[in-house]
Amino acid sequence: MKSPVIDKYEAWESVRRSHQAGVFDTNVLRTIESLLPQRVENSAETGCGKSTILFSNISDHHTVFALNDRDAGEGSSVLFYEECPLTRMDRITFIAGPTQQTLPAFDQFRPLDLLLIDGPHGFPFPELEYYYFYPHLRPGALLILDDVQIPTIGRLADFLAEDEMFETVDLVEGTAIFRRTDAPTFDPLQDGWWTQRYNRRRVSSKRDIFLPSESVTDHFTEQHLDCRLHEGEGFEDHQNKTLNEQIERLNITLGKRDEEIVNLRKEIDAANSTLNQLFSSSSWRITAPIRQFMGWLR
Ligand SMILES: C[S@@+](CC[C@H](N)C(=O)[O-])C[C@H]1O[C@@H](n2cnc3c(N)ncnc32)[C@H](O)[C@@H]1O
Repeated sequence: MKSPVIDKYEAWESVRRSHQAGVFDTNVLRTIESLLPQRVENSAETGCGKSTILFSNISDHHTVFALNDRDAGEGSSVLFYEECPLTRMDRITFIAGPTQQTLPAFDQFRPLDLLLIDGPHGFPFPELEYYYFYPHLRPGALLILDDVQIPTIGRLADFLAEDEMFETVDLVEGTAIFRRTDAPTFDPLQDGWWTQRYNRRRVSSKRDIFLPSESVTDHFTEQHLDCRLHEGEGFEDHQNKTLNEQIERLNITLGKRDEEIVNLRKEIDAANSTLNQLFSSSSWRITAPIRQFMGWLR
């Protein structure tokens, strides 16, 4: 895999302290470097560290939204990239502070070719960051979401994996990489949940959103990306397993229906034989004139 920046980085890291805050896997950075378009004009990330070193080299203008943790000394992710001689400090704009506050206030977004979401990881912070960034992603831009093994971040990855605006490019370790398609941008100031593929697949527009268990909802949600991560099985295997389980459930339902049909047939046979006995009995024949007489009266 061609990754000249990360090759140089590894040579530096081998003689430098290990970065406590920057836990980003170097192999993932290698993969990202190999997937990049010819030219990255603008990029951004939430959080900072090892990734900042790479992005400042491959992007003409890189914006970092992160906490200023310089007083954390050895554990500081800001000092980590600042002290690395490979970092292109002239290409970085640093927006200090919690992204929960800096992103809503920021009004200088550029059209982005690359975005990494790797700042605060608690729910709903990655979603919040996604909201402020997604309208600025150019068609073809890479969107990288780290730590999708965290269930709530995995759910965001599930959503993106199904959305028209993205194609899934790779899943390396716990990092999901998506590419922005040229599908129109979902209006960030309107509603429209029913038009989103993730929702459409789970809830028919003709049905109530609160579907009972065992409904179509369950069959789809079992196919999450996070299942793929947790169970360590291939996605295809997982889908096959889910389909086989569905078939098994349907077979059980069919078996029950067959049993009901057999029982109903038995009841019909029993009723028929009672009727036959009644019709052929002597009391039935003796009372025939009375029934005929009653018929005339009616
Ligand atoms: C997992 S580290 C990022 C690692 C980095 N991508 C790398 O390659 O080394 C998480 C980063 O998010 C920052 N962070 C945590 N909470 C934050 C918040 N509320 N707003 C902005 N940055 C935050 C941390 O200071 C840290 O830089």
